[in-house]
Amino acid sequence: MAASSYGRQRQADIYLEGVRGRKPRVPQNAAALERAARRSMSKEGFAYITGGAGLETTMQANRRAFDRVQIVPRMLRGAATRRLEVELFGRTLPAPILIAPVGVLEVAHREADLAVARAAAAEGLPMIFSSQASKPLEECCAAMGDATRWFQLYMSTSDELVRSFVSRAERAGCGAIVVTLDTTMLGWRLRDLDLGYLPFLAGRGIAQYVSDPVFQRLVDEAAPPERGAVTPGAIRALWRLARLYPGSTWANLRSPRPRQAVRTFVDVFVRPSLEWDDLEVVRHATELPILLKGILHADDARRALDYGVDGIVVSNHGGRQVDGSIASLAALPAIVEAVRGRVPILFDSGIRGGADVFKAIALGATAVLIGRPYCYGLAIAGEAGVREVIQNLVADLDLTMGLAGCASLADIGAESLAPFS
Ligand SMILES: Cc1cc2nc3c(=O)[nH]c(=O)nc-3n(C[C@H](O)[C@H](O)[C@H](O)COP(=O)(O)O)c2cc1C
Repeated sequence: MAASSYGRQRQADIYLEGVRGRKPRVPQNAAALERAARRSMSKEGFAYITGGAGLETTMQANRRAFDRVQIVPRMLRGAATRRLEVELFGRTLPAPILIAPVGVLEVAHREADLAVARAAAAEGLPMIFSSQASKPLEECCAAMGDATRWFQLYMSTSDELVRSFVSRAERAGCGAIVVTLDTTMLGWRLRDLDLGYLPFLAGRGIAQYVSDPVFQRLVDEAAPPERGAVTPGAIRALWRLARLYPGSTWANLRSPRPRQAVRTFVDVFVRPSLEWDDLEVVRHATELPILLKGILHADDARRALDYGVDGIVVSNHGGRQVDGSIASLAALPAIVEAVRGRVPILFDSGIRGGADVFKAIALGATAVLIGRPYCYGLAIAGEAGVREVIQNLVADLDLTMGLAGCASLADIGAESLAPFS
């Protein structure tokens, strides 16, 4: 991609539309984006996407860490056009931004992962498909042409299922496997607990499982579900599950299989005892690059390198797992120091604007992942909404770079920041 002024073009497009009396549907400001999305979601869906663990202090810490890092713009450097491209595992991305794996996107929009996959492909940014997706991987990849996509893996209790997911990802054209380490159990999420809502139990966010032959065999082998008491609540839950489960609603209502599948999912979903040596299963299953997501300590980063991983994602899962945790941005410098450029370091948790991307790159990240903001764009306007969120973020980054005197990502470094205060 040639050097360009993407940000100025996007500004011009928005302002010219404004002259014609048309305002963007997707708000720019992160808080306004969240508020607008709320109007399009059920209260359970909104709580699931927005919430974090415990008192949500990790989410606040993520944002505060960005506030503490300050950019020092440099003048008269002639950065009239900028190059935002970055190379990752043999592919050139137009901007250092990837679409984070987010489960249960159907709570934001009925087209869920499919709409996001189309948007990512149209914008040329990699989509990382979640293990907890609402649409099967193959269906989404088929809509992406040869656009870059990766697969995020939760380490199931079944090695066979892990191997099956990895081989499906390979066949569907995914270019890397991202193993998420921080979710060996679900965090204590107050908003979901208050609503008594876990989407998986309603049959949401389990599309990768029910479309998997190994999983289906595990369902066959599972004991039949017990018959619970017939209450109005139980009938409503049964009806919802029958509608969501693949196949005809009527057949699903009469079959124990949907309930059996949910129970099997609960049994295999994650491995609380996860240890370093368990990663061997993934290493033996694929030649694809493997990244570890959820690293927050330099020693864990060094250990990851000893295990021969190909990349690290510094992340606290958007504050959804451990309340009172170190901010992801605060963890980044020590990890960069430990890795010393041997593998790419990706970063997420709390990215809300172009300046945040700039700061993460200045502290040593190769690229960043965006999470909740694109979910909100999806809720507001489906595929078009996700595209708008991406375009706004890239434009904001581009202008921030130009105004700070950086013509390429290589120009962004420690010297672009004021010392930590
Ligand atoms: C609703 C929701 C579901 C998520 N599901 C997954 C998932 O299935 N796998 C995963 O590795 N990370 C998951 N994440 C974490 C994201 O990949 C990413 O780390 C996080 O959203 C970044 O923080 P941010 O939302 O503050 O930008 C999820 C995040 C949210 C908000």
